[in-house]
Amino acid sequence: MDTPSFTFVLYTLFLTLSVSVSSSSSLPMSLKTQASILVSLKQDFESKTSLKSWNISNYMSLCTTWYGIQCDTNNSSVVSLDISNLNVSGTFSSSITKLSNLRFLNISNNMFNGNLSWKFSHLKELEVLDAYNNEFNCSLPLGVTELPKLKYLNFGGNFFYGEIPSKYGNMLQLNYLSLAGNDLRGFIPFELGNLTNLTHLLLGYYNEFDGEIPPHFGNLVNLVHLDLANCGLKGSIPHELGKLYKLDTLFLQTNQLNGSIPPQLGNLSSLKSLDMSNNELNGNIPNEFSNLRELTLLNLFINKLYGEIPSFFSELPNLEVLKLWQNNFTGSIPSKLGKNGKLSELDLSTNKLTGLVPKSLCLGKRLKILILLNNFLFGSLPNEFGQCYTLQRVRLGQNYLTGSIPKGFLYLPQLSLLELQNNLLGGFLPQQEITNTNTSKLGEINLSNNRLSGSLPNSIGNFPNLQILLLHGNRFSGEIPSDIGKLKNILRLDMSFNNFSGTIPIEIGKCSSLTFLDLSQNKLSGPIPIQVSQIHILNYLNVSWNYLNQTLPKELGSIKGLTSADFSHNDFSGSVPEIGQFSVFNSTSFVGNPKLCGYDLNPCNKSSSETLESQKNGGEKPGIPAKYKLLFALALLVCSLVFATFAIMKGRKGIKRDSNPWKLTAFQKIEYGSEDILGCVKESNIIGRGGAGVVYGGTMPNGEKVAVKKLLGINKGCSYDNGLSAEIKTLGRIRHRYIVKLLAFCSNRDTNLLVYEYMTNGSLGEVLHGKRGGFLEWDVRVKIATEAAKGLCYLHHDCCPLIVHRDVKSNNILLNSEFEAHVADFGLAKFLLQDTGGTSECMSSIVGSYGYIAPEYAYTLKVDEKSDVYSFGVVLLELLTGRRPVGDFGEEGMDIVQWTKLKTDWNKESVVKILDGRLHNNIPLDEAMQLFFVAMCCVEEQSVERPTMREVVEMLGQVKQPNIFQV
Ligand SMILES: *[C@@H]1O[C@H](CO)[C@@H](O)[C@H](O)[C@H]1NC(C)=O
Ligand SMILES: *[C@@H]1O[C@H](CO)[C@@H](O)[C@H](O)[C@H]1NC(C)=O
Ligand SMILES: *[C@@H]1O[C@H](CO)[C@@H](O)[C@H](O)[C@H]1NC(C)=O
Ligand SMILES: *[C@@H]1O[C@H](CO)[C@@H](O)[C@H](O)[C@H]1NC(C)=O
Repeated sequence: MDTPSFTFVLYTLFLTLSVSVSSSSSLPMSLKTQASILVSLKQDFESKTSLKSWNISNYMSLCTTWYGIQCDTNNSSVVSLDISNLNVSGTFSSSITKLSNLRFLNISNNMFNGNLSWKFSHLKELEVLDAYNNEFNCSLPLGVTELPKLKYLNFGGNFFYGEIPSKYGNMLQLNYLSLAGNDLRGFIPFELGNLTNLTHLLLGYYNEFDGEIPPHFGNLVNLVHLDLANCGLKGSIPHELGKLYKLDTLFLQTNQLNGSIPPQLGNLSSLKSLDMSNNELNGNIPNEFSNLRELTLLNLFINKLYGEIPSFFSELPNLEVLKLWQNNFTGSIPSKLGKNGKLSELDLSTNKLTGLVPKSLCLGKRLKILILLNNFLFGSLPNEFGQCYTLQRVRLGQNYLTGSIPKGFLYLPQLSLLELQNNLLGGFLPQQEITNTNTSKLGEINLSNNRLSGSLPNSIGNFPNLQILLLHGNRFSGEIPSDIGKLKNILRLDMSFNNFSGTIPIEIGKCSSLTFLDLSQNKLSGPIPIQVSQIHILNYLNVSWNYLNQTLPKELGSIKGLTSADFSHNDFSGSVPEIGQFSVFNSTSFVGNPKLCGYDLNPCNKSSSETLESQKNGGEKPGIPAKYKLLFALALLVCSLVFATFAIMKGRKGIKRDSNPWKLTAFQKIEYGSEDILGCVKESNIIGRGGAGVVYGGTMPNGEKVAVKKLLGINKGCSYDNGLSAEIKTLGRIRHRYIVKLLAFCSNRDTNLLVYEYMTNGSLGEVLHGKRGGFLEWDVRVKIATEAAKGLCYLHHDCCPLIVHRDVKSNNILLNSEFEAHVADFGLAKFLLQDTGGTSECMSSIVGSYGYIAPEYAYTLKVDEKSDVYSFGVVLLELLTGRRPVGDFGEEGMDIVQWTKLKTDWNKESVVKILDGRLHNNIPLDEAMQLFFVAMCCVEEQSVERPTMREVVEMLGQVKQPNIFQV
């Protein structure tokens, strides 16, 4: 965004002016008076340490040492006030208008709130008013139309609501007008078409206008920059825009524009950036576009365009970025595309393109992004690609490509992603010739479902950053090279459905980041090396349909997170170990091994089955078999229903103090008693409500602030009373930096109160979506995501017993005074019923909150730690988009996951389309893309595809060092 630099230009212009012209004001006002006006302004500010110099006793140096002040040449009147970028909050009072000589006022990038009901008419000299990125919350002030000299007006990035007043069309002297990033509604007044001196007009992003682009905008012949993106515009693009011959930027993306592209846009011969993506445009790309000789960026993706991609695109001398994905383009890719030597990003995926991949794409050696997936391309990949050293992301899956992988392609130094899956590629994977290890940036290789053959070269170990290697469904043969153990960062390794033979190399145990290992459907023989058990975070292991033999190593049972394993259809012998995770796996994990016994479908002979029984009766085993879990869940459900009926009959009960004594259990030394805690429980102290109960804030006699949660609807009709207090004692023992501390538990027969440490800044949900919404900076968001992930990771993997949260959501992530995230409300959901009076809602709080619930719940009625991962992914999307999980998407029933999918097609590059409009425009895109990538992994449909929280923590760690998964 060029907003700041534009302001700067005006500012310097203004300074030059102020040297030559002295103040023309009629009323001389003493320095002291002016200083006192500023000091009175300051009184309404909060967090204003940066304005220490504004001190009335120093009024004599007002023009020299006061922060952000500039005076006229006589040093007698303040003419410029610049307090941008100070993070000041509070209101900005109208007394500013007493500084009637003011010509330049910049309060951008702060947190000023309230309204702007100033007596603008006093500021006769004002030329620049920049209030960009604050929290003003009112309708647009009419007063600005009375500023006769105003040239630059920026109200972008606030919460202005209502319509744009048609009177704004009277400010004929304006050069720059931005109202972007607000909550404006109604029609765009056609009177704005009178502002013929405008060079910049920005109205997009989160405004939601009615109607069409006013054809009157065709009169704005001085416009250089027109941005109407993402603001609800409908109808067709007016051909009058073709008169704006000075335009260098035209942004119309992410609206509901339909009809065809007006050929008149071909007259915009100065145009450098044209983005009309994510609309409903149809028809062809007009031939007139061959006149757009200056064009560097053309985005038309997600529309309904068809016809051929014109061959003159090869002739556009400056074209760098061309993204036409998700349309209905047919024909072939222009055969000379890239011959201008400047092409750097090309995405033509999800069209109906056929023919060859042109050789010239990387002619200028600048191509970074090459995405052609999901078309009908055939032929072999040009050998030239093996020397395209700039390539970073390549996605060519779902085509009909044949031939072999170009020499050198796999080892390009900048390459981070290589997808060639679902093609007809053959040949061998070449050994890397020059072994300059540690330079490869490859994070993901997907070669699945091709016809690749031969053995894997040893140099496959030379990818220090590789996280995902998918070789599924090829014809690879020979032994798995032992160098596979050099892949220290690999998370997911899929070699299934090939012809690998020989033994599983013991070095696999060195892949210590591995969570997913699939070696099924090969010809592997020999034992499962016990070294596999050194992969402590392994989550999924599939070795089915091989010729593996000997006994199953009992050490595998000690991998705590191993929740899915398949040993079926091999030649294993002996009995299934009766320890640890082995008790979790289904019988089907063991079938097809005639010499193997000791599982439900094939018990061993008497003597050994007795020992099995005795172990089962021993209770206290780490994993309870699935069928017992189901029984337990059913029992809980029955109890819940019984209790709910009970509760309705009894009606609600308040806290009774007599004849029903209180019991206080403290989990650490506390200096207050149950009376003090009860004192907090009153209507006026309520700070929150949730599925689990009502939360009260309060201060203890020693000054300590606490939060008291009164649990609603505990299953006391059943025998879970004891269960609850035992469970709560467990929770009370948990100590982790990013988990809210449970300090005490206070209960009597009717009421259960939990006392937690107090979190000054409330919940993430309130901060993101509440009244003060949107002020979390990007870096804070990343920090909060990482901290919350660490808290959850601790619950899932490190604490004892392991805890599934079951209700992960932004309202359960609390922020202390430093905005450090703390996970709250874990481990409670399974004991609770929502106090809604009805029985049908009873289940809702048991499995989590609407909008966060993982899809598997719908068909299995089971939740596990991967369901928490899904919910956490939803929280990440909230952080990225600033939107609530449900209800912010117009359409009935649309949730944030569906919406994001629709907007981005799960394409990291499209993250800009969903980013919270209130984030600064200059947030690092590569970081946003990595965070988005993590979120996408977390909300995978299939729970086994989702990462573990441990992996999530790892991946979030890379957001701030984004060289693995960047653009
Ligand atoms: C518009 O710009 C021109 C050229 O800079 C200037 O002469 C004219 O006065 C401006 N119009 C208004 C209404 O300010
Ligand atoms: C503003 O525009 C309207 C319609 O385009 C026109 O009728 C009116 O005369 C214009 N006003 C001025 C001051 O140019
Ligand atoms: C492409 O065309 C087909 C058939 O003409 C239509 O069903 C489909 O919706 C179109 N796709 C897009 C993205 O426009
Ligand atoms: C396991 O398989 C290997 C290779 O096929 C074979 O040499 C070995 O004898 C087998 N061992 C057992 C105990 O069956």
